[in-house]
Amino acid sequence: MSLGIVNGTIVTAVDGYPADLRIEAGRIAAIGAGVADTAAHTLDATGLLVLPGGIDAHTHFDLPTGGTVSADDFETGTRAAAFGGTTTCIDFATQSKGGTLQHALDTWSARAEGKACIDYGFHMILADVNPGSLAEMRAMVAAGISSFKLFMAYPGSLMSTDGEIFQAMQHAAACSALVQVHAENGSVIDLMVQQALAANHKAPVYHALTRPSTAEGEATQRAIALAEMAGAPLYVVHVSAEEAVDAIARARCHGGMILGETCPQYLFLSHDHYLDPGFEGAKYVMSPPLRPRHNADRLWQALQSDQLSVVATDHCPFNFRGQKDLGRDDFTKIPNGIPGVENRLQLLYHGGVAGKRFNLHRFVQLTATAPAKIFGLFPRKGTIAVGSDADLVLFDPAGRHLISAATHHMRVDYNPYEGLELQGRIVQVVSRGELIVDRGRWLGRAGHGQFLPRRSPAMP
Ligand code: URP
Ligand code: ZN
Ligand code: ZN
Repeated sequence: MSLGIVNGTIVTAVDGYPADLRIEAGRIAAIGAGVADTAAHTLDATGLLVLPGGIDAHTHFDLPTGGTVSADDFETGTRAAAFGGTTTCIDFATQSKGGTLQHALDTWSARAEGKACIDYGFHMILADVNPGSLAEMRAMVAAGISSFKLFMAYPGSLMSTDGEIFQAMQHAAACSALVQVHAENGSVIDLMVQQALAANHKAPVYHALTRPSTAEGEATQRAIALAEMAGAPLYVVHVSAEEAVDAIARARCHGGMILGETCPQYLFLSHDHYLDPGFEGAKYVMSPPLRPRHNADRLWQALQSDQLSVVATDHCPFNFRGQKDLGRDDFTKIPNGIPGVENRLQLLYHGGVAGKRFNLHRFVQLTATAPAKIFGLFPRKGTIAVGSDADLVLFDPAGRHLISAATHHMRVDYNPYEGLELQGRIVQVVSRGELIVDRGRWLGRAGHGQFLPRRSPAMP
């Protein structure tokens, strides 16, 4: 069945022009005047931008952690993503201690299959670096898992030593994969946490006070040095601190294959939220934590100047009632994470394009094209071209959108951006040629989303 999109303005990371689109068998079949004239159905995009569907390269659906499970599963999470104009998510499968990577992939595949409403892929979290898991990396790459996250935080559970990270980087370089790091100095943070608890400092603000930005800057710098020694590219996830941005910017200036990702929470929210009355600060407990406001200015500047390459969400939601309150008497028991998969595109359009920090092409680059290239999905995803998947967002730049937990689609009882009114509105969303969101109405279905085997990374 063919679908036409007429009268819109197509915007990619490099071009913007009025043209019609014809979609056949889920792919873009033709672009140009009149190509949609004989399509079975047409969408009228008069006054609208036609954007590539967003790619969220950092989500945690159905993630068991801290004695609970993240509140969105693959169905509710990908559905919410679609409402927000995201048509591909890359989630994280986690190796268990003593477990194989294949077992982790099987476990996460079972969670997603039949439930995902949009296409999805997986990164692999290497939680137990040993000769077996290092050897298995090549088979993972062959299976389409071409990126591996290592933790420099959480000693005793997820944290790897520098030697382990270095070895993983060497293996990644040998099999053309990408290492991602969670860059915080876990040993120092753990000591600061113990000291805070000993002093009876248990309120949510101490989560942030025990994870200073210097701990992120130091770990980022160390990860860059390890990657340089290993001759491997590096992708630093959820960058929040100016020290970390400075380290990435320096490395990129010297030709390093270093990429950085930030998230809307670090652009729009700040440390001040930890001082909200009562236990409200728990809503913002995540790692790295929110930073003092000047860090956000530096992050925006880094997005403008390509010192940072991607905006993802690190969507990892927990209900305030029943989950966040597990840590009411002790901040270390608050599950770490924040919702956001539904709000990323609109927040970035509002703060970036409407806020005159960068243009539409940079917006598309940060939210779709760069993640598609870095994570081996381009040109199937991340652009509008003949042969690409017809993952499209019809976007009204003059529309407005009010963020509220009362109307959002994420399965979580609060929204960290509650009450924020944004410029720009998502009108329709198409996934592989199917209209799945139509002016706030859900037309998609669980199981429509397909697993995306990913190739090796390309520099954006
Ligand atoms: O607090 C966070 N970010 N939770 C998700 C796990 C991670 O480290 O990305
Ligand atoms: Zn992380
Ligand atoms: Zn994460």
